[in-house]
Amino acid sequence: MTIDARTKLYQEFQQAFNLGKIDPRIPSPENNGNYDKSISSLSEYIRGHVESACLKELPYLIEKANLTPDASILDYGCGWGRLAYASSNYLSSKGLYLGLDISKFAIDSLKAGYSSFPNFEFIFQDISTDENYIYIQEGKSSKSQAKSSEPVLPIEYEGKFDVVFSHSVFTHMWREGIQHVLKEQAKVLGSGGYGINTWLIVDEYAKYVMKCGLTDRALPFFVNGVFTYSQENPLLCTAYPISTIYEIYAAAGHQIIDIEFGSWAGRENGVTYQDVVISKPF
Ligand SMILES: C[S@@+](CC[C@H](N)C(=O)[O-])C[C@H]1O[C@@H](n2cnc3c(N)ncnc32)[C@H](O)[C@@H]1O
Repeated sequence: MTIDARTKLYQEFQQAFNLGKIDPRIPSPENNGNYDKSISSLSEYIRGHVESACLKELPYLIEKANLTPDASILDYGCGWGRLAYASSNYLSSKGLYLGLDISKFAIDSLKAGYSSFPNFEFIFQDISTDENYIYIQEGKSSKSQAKSSEPVLPIEYEGKFDVVFSHSVFTHMWREGIQHVLKEQAKVLGSGGYGINTWLIVDEYAKYVMKCGLTDRALPFFVNGVFTYSQENPLLCTAYPISTIYEIYAAAGHQIIDIEFGSWAGRENGVTYQDVVISKPF
């Protein structure tokens, strides 16, 4: 899509928004860091933002974690609120959705968009610049004040959640940060709660498909224990050997219940191109 077509889409969104014709839960494409830049029609953009979370991700969580409309959901690395939108059409007033992200801009937009949903909460958690793939990419070395990559979840959420979900977040993190996050997840999951986190997992089959040239991406570099496509900014895409994943879960106090491999390396789980790991705290 040309820059002109993109500018036209931004303007069209803004005009419709000003006329009250856009649901405030839908972020502007201009701000949405995860929007598919090849999309130029407004209706396609809105559908693209919500479709997969509504028709695949939330139904998957409902099935795997036995959720009801009164459930509590933590969306770790919620981005621009795809799952928030689906959840806001599913949860009752007794349910809870908490979205957490390291992008202040995304969190501030979501707080504004969901101001009429009292059971929808959003938290910004800063991490150090050298752990944040977006800051590294943008070259804004002084952007974060945070010293560590280890945010701690507020104590009031301990034992609260029926499911903690992350989609395409561990694929941008180093091992130490992921291990810490999984420990935090274990603290906030209630008894019977599930961790459902997506990964890019390099097992023997994925290696074979990669050698065939049939994975959705090449991962030619092995840096600091992860397969990646960028030596300059490995956090743009982090894929872990399966043995490392078992070590991380054990060290974080989770038992892996199931792994459902995604289409990035030639398999199908019906929910995402990434691999899904379902776990429970010990
Ligand atoms: C590819 S986006 C996915 C967003 C969302 N989960 C989705 O599927 O639409 C990755 C998100 O993870 C967030 N993120 C990256 N590293 C993180 C970290 N260490 N802790 C929490 N969120 C992180 C980014 O800010 C970004 O919103």
